Amino acid sequence: MTIKVWTDGRGAGLLGPNGARGTAFAYAADAGPTDAVSITMPVRLASWDSDFGLAPIFEMNLPEGALRERLRMAFAKATGTFDDLDLLSIVGRSQVGRLRYTDEHAALDQAVPFQSVDELLASRRDGSLFQYLLERFAAYSGVSGVQPKLLIRDDTARGMEPKAGERTSIQGATHIVKFWEDQYPQLAANEFFCLKAAERCGLDVPRFQLSDDGRALVIDRFDLRGDGRYRGFEDFCVLNAKGTAQKYQGSYETAVLKRFREFASPDQIAAGSEAIFRMIALNAALHNGDAHLKNFGIVYDDIEGEVALAPVYDVVTTTAYIAADQMALTLDGSTRWPTAKQLTAFAATRQIGSPAAIKATLESIAEGISETMSDLREYIRATPEFEEIGTRMLAQWDEGIRSSLVE
Ligand SMILES: Nc1ncnc2c1ncn2[C@@H]1O[C@H](COP(=O)(O)OP(=O)(O)O)[C@@H](O)[C@H]1O
Ligand SMILES: [Mg+2]
Repeated sequence: MTIKVWTDGRGAGLLGPNGARGTAFAYAADAGPTDAVSITMPVRLASWDSDFGLAPIFEMNLPEGALRERLRMAFAKATGTFDDLDLLSIVGRSQVGRLRYTDEHAALDQAVPFQSVDELLASRRDGSLFQYLLERFAAYSGVSGVQPKLLIRDDTARGMEPKAGERTSIQGATHIVKFWEDQYPQLAANEFFCLKAAERCGLDVPRFQLSDDGRALVIDRFDLRGDGRYRGFEDFCVLNAKGTAQKYQGSYETAVLKRFREFASPDQIAAGSEAIFRMIALNAALHNGDAHLKNFGIVYDDIEGEVALAPVYDVVTTTAYIAADQMALTLDGSTRWPTAKQLTAFAATRQIGSPAAIKATLESIAEGISETMSDLREYIRATPEFEEIGTRMLAQWDEGIRSSLVE
């Protein structure tokens, strides 16, 4: 099978099997520098080969978990084979970021069906909403992650239909909808309040909404531009030349901060580094043990233009489910939740800010979390089914503030 790879609506090159287990990607003869598929794979004459499976940028958005299983069952051929290239060709027309994939000779039409976000938020379908949306949106959901989720296109994009020949309409998905399974009860509300805390800590967070029944979290795509095109997005697995399976490998010092400074535009480095420090401290205080390489990313409109840190996503108090959980990556050589002292030393050695500024940052994070604890208490009062998880979250945050933010 040969797959055509598109960069921001233009054919960039061809991707196909190479040897027994590898793949190769070759840029089209007329591809220019701005057609690069990744900041790690500039346009060149020689093909980009991968010995095992797909190059990280092509693997980046492959569905995992329930969504992958669903697609495998629906599309596995009679022979029973179903590899990453098959999966990519199924969800290739609708992806996070600016790359798209089609059959070699197909055109790029990516119109995703409409689904009103307002209706979804007020839905009374109980557990069946995910199944219902899965049937309609699975094949449009080029989005990674183990938790059940789908890419949808909100109704309101309808009001933006283009005049003939214009490129202003949003043909693709506008939102990510995340659900949860019984293994992680109330995960949507958990993430909702964690994102609220992130917002209060001064971090850039896309708009997020919790459904009335607490079963779905709807998040605006941060890679969607006002003109209906999509921005480039690359996660830190890609920047570290690692596959999805290696997302838990590395340190915040090197695999996140140092790597960011290597790839970001010079004028984005200071603000982005400060935001990374804020995220590390916030994740430590909220006890998010899942802040791995795929949960940080960079964004750009033009691969040769400004490259910035992506907004915050996927923040969860994982110790509400796994009491002994630790960090996904190491800091100071350890996955233990860092102390305020360790965080301060980390920031000082890496020129994140003056000692006074670092102290103020930790204080402002503690304040943002404390304020969010009031919201959390209120939601617990109104939502009996959230009481168990919510109460655990409060205890975890309280402990996290004391050990990681206050000296
Ligand atoms: N608001 C967003 N806009 C665009 N892409 C996003 C957004 N949030 C997440 N993503 C992408 O979707 C992936 C899966 O989302 P995530 O929230 O991390 O799910 P999970 O909890 O299953 O890991 C992320 O790794 C990232 O690539
Ligand atoms: Mg994630």
